[in-house]
Amino acid sequence: MKMQKMVWMGALAFGAASAQAAGVTLTMSCGASEQDAQYCKKIATEWGAKTGNTLEMLTLPQSSSDILGLFRQMFAAKSDKLDVVQIDVVWPGILKDQLLDLKPYTNGIEKNHFPAMVANNTVNGKLLAMPWLTDAGVMFYRKDLLAKYGEKPPTTWAELTATAKRVMDGERKAGNAAMQGFVFQARAYEGLTCTGLEWVASYGGGTIIDANGKTTINNPQAAKALDMAAGWIGTIAPTGVLNYAEEEARGVFQNGNAVFMRNWPYAWALVNGADSGIKGKVGVMVGMPKGDGPQSTGAAALGGWQMAVSKYTKHPKEAADLVLYMTSQAVQKERSISLASNPTIPALYQDKDILAANPFYGDLFETLKVAIPRPATVTGVKYNEVSAAFWNATHEVLSGKATGADSVKKLEAKIDGIRRGPSW
Ligand code: GLC
Repeated sequence: MKMQKMVWMGALAFGAASAQAAGVTLTMSCGASEQDAQYCKKIATEWGAKTGNTLEMLTLPQSSSDILGLFRQMFAAKSDKLDVVQIDVVWPGILKDQLLDLKPYTNGIEKNHFPAMVANNTVNGKLLAMPWLTDAGVMFYRKDLLAKYGEKPPTTWAELTATAKRVMDGERKAGNAAMQGFVFQARAYEGLTCTGLEWVASYGGGTIIDANGKTTINNPQAAKALDMAAGWIGTIAPTGVLNYAEEEARGVFQNGNAVFMRNWPYAWALVNGADSGIKGKVGVMVGMPKGDGPQSTGAAALGGWQMAVSKYTKHPKEAADLVLYMTSQAVQKERSISLASNPTIPALYQDKDILAANPFYGDLFETLKVAIPRPATVTGVKYNEVSAAFWNATHEVLSGKATGADSVKKLEAKIDGIRRGPSW
């Protein structure tokens, strides 16, 4: 018995030593928010300790559009200084020539994830990324303030506008001059494509481009949706919102200075964090508010992030192993409880520890099934150009530089110019 134990320990020691000798250094980019980045580092370092490899983290800019810019530069230089990359759900088509096919490494484990995400990450038969977290736009509100004014969570944008104004005015009168009705992402970047798409789709105005690649944005419902949102600027929303990404909106809301906030579920963990002034006072609406008109609906944009390996890595095997570790069920569970990061493994939406930490996950699961994808698959490598055209057009309407109708008309021509022909 004693002998056996010694042999085993010897093998372990030998294994560790050889792993050390063979260890490689990987550079990884992970985590858009500060907290997320720290957590990523912790998990990746755990993997490094287990496998005898060393991790270096690349600090990322906060906005998805800036992260894409950085990656494109590094890929254009064929840089081997980046091994594992966190990529947005709308990028597989854009980065298809820069990412490694993970199929030879996964042993089929991708089957445990949402099939739509796996399909999204598969381009020309290659699995370019493993699902890491999924996202859908959600509306947060101040439960305590709505109760104080006898208001219910709104079901339409018109109701949200009225409730936001009433509560904001009341709170300003009561002494909080900084109070705002509604904060959201309206900077000219990818986040505005998400919020803008939600407004347009909620009015039955389509998804900018349809599944066949036809530009559909030039329609009266889309124009109406953008005009409605423009009406919020300087009334229920601060003009500064025109420069807000996710974290700026969360800052205002978490400081107790907004009634409603459009954001992604990650904000749940933070607004209920120990250092939050509104801990326990926040509600999450089931679905987004509806628009107006016969096709109106509540529309949540589909978001999410994936883990991929750069084609220029010198260590494909280790990098793929790290991706599989990061996206594993155990790690996703841990992240979901600590960060309200939405798992990409359907089974985890029934996990009682996760549901206890995120009580709205049952509803979110339903929302995820009907969330609206941005037109990334159909536009492929051109997606970012199309998205930039849309977010700029939307930003112009919000800033009062164009009407909804003029803007969607110009945008149609611009998108058709990017396509340059009948197909993408
Ligand atoms: C979230 C979403 C992502 C989206 C981004 C926009 O991170 O998960 O898909 O592109 O927000 O800001």
